[in-house]
Amino acid sequence: MTAPDPDYLKNEQYKDATRLQARARLHADYSRNPYGWFEWQFDLYKDLPANAQILELGAGAGWLWLKNRQHIPAGWDITLSDFSAGMVEEQHQNLAKLSRPFHFAQTDIQAIDFPDQIFDAVIANHMLYHVPDRAKAIREMRRVLKPGGTVFTATNGERHLQEIHNLLARFGFQPGEYLEGFVAAKGYTLENAADQLQNAFEHVELHRYDDAIVLTEAKPLIDYILSFPIQLSAERSRAFKTFVEVEFNRTGTMDITKDMGVLVAR
Ligand SMILES: C[S@@+](CC[C@H](N)C(=O)[O-])C[C@H]1O[C@@H](n2cnc3c(N)ncnc32)[C@H](O)[C@@H]1O
Repeated sequence: MTAPDPDYLKNEQYKDATRLQARARLHADYSRNPYGWFEWQFDLYKDLPANAQILELGAGAGWLWLKNRQHIPAGWDITLSDFSAGMVEEQHQNLAKLSRPFHFAQTDIQAIDFPDQIFDAVIANHMLYHVPDRAKAIREMRRVLKPGGTVFTATNGERHLQEIHNLLARFGFQPGEYLEGFVAAKGYTLENAADQLQNAFEHVELHRYDDAIVLTEAKPLIDYILSFPIQLSAERSRAFKTFVEVEFNRTGTMDITKDMGVLVAR
């Protein structure tokens, strides 16, 4: 499989939040854990200083802050960023109307457009598997962090959504067909992220989020799958939808493994 294609990511997949939303809906509407993923992550930030300077990289549509808006300490100074101009625009639309200020910046994690040692916390969630030069990205996060600062990176484990990948394989897709140019599939997982972070950080700990998806209808799953860079003729697309519907009618529900977590590095 080829490496992630930055132009595809910036100009198509993350041109705006449409495709990301289709994937997020599956999690938001069908997850078993009532304590939400973004709320759970936010709890990990509880020891940050009252006046923390915080940078989020690859922040997408800014959902982390939107979901936790009631609980953000007044003294935190928060900058959201992304390498996609469309995503920075989405961040603006979602957050600029809130009563507290946020800053926004367009920057690539591999060359962070900020001076050395100015942030108490740097966050990079569900994005390092997209980054071609991940070692450089990790060094960049370390560079902009104050001594004693903390990095938070969320990612998936190798078992994450394995039933969806099995379903795609049963239909006849190869992983390369739908992940091509999108992710280095096993490039940054809960299993191998600590080793990568340890090249730049002394202390790394892993926190796993306990959750699963129980799906009761086919459509959200079809939307999820079609948010990948999948090339389908009209005929194959129809065949695929029928295939998923038949699977559902056979089983009634589908249990899907979720394996997500956050690496905290200092
Ligand atoms: C899966 S989304 C995650 C968004 C958000 N962090 C979240 O957890 O909801 C990945 C995001 O990373 C951004 N991204 C990908 N490669 C990047 C890079 N090299 N530098 C900065 N942002 C990048 C994409 O534009 C996209 O918004």
